[in-house]
Amino acid sequence: MRYVRHIFICTNRRRDDDPKGSCAQKGSESIRELFKKELKARGLKAKVRANASGCLDACSHGPNVVIYPEGVWYGSVKEEDVAEIIERHIIGGEVIERLLIKGPRYAPDRLKYPPLETGLEESV
Ligand code: FES
Repeated sequence: MRYVRHIFICTNRRRDDDPKGSCAQKGSESIRELFKKELKARGLKAKVRANASGCLDACSHGPNVVIYPEGVWYGSVKEEDVAEIIERHIIGGEVIERLLIKGPRYAPDRLKYPPLETGLEESV
């Protein structure tokens, strides 16, 4: 398997006068850089990818981060949340409740995906 997890960070930027706002206006570009840095520092760069994404259509909740394959949506993510997401969610397999975007459209499937170390086992 090429990557065990993809972390998509919305880095869409709208004009400053656009009433919808955008994740980049709220600091998502530096959040993405921090994800990359923190993954590299933990030796996870080859298994977990921090991708910049376009608008995830959840603009009012931004900065938004969605993690696949589990489809967990985190909103209002701040730089200080990045290490915690990697440690608790990516490595530990735990959903961080306080960061979840609320609402049925964003409900994660908590049971399906194991902690990272299990997912890192190579298939033969
Ligand atoms: S601008 Fe980030 S979800 Fe729309």
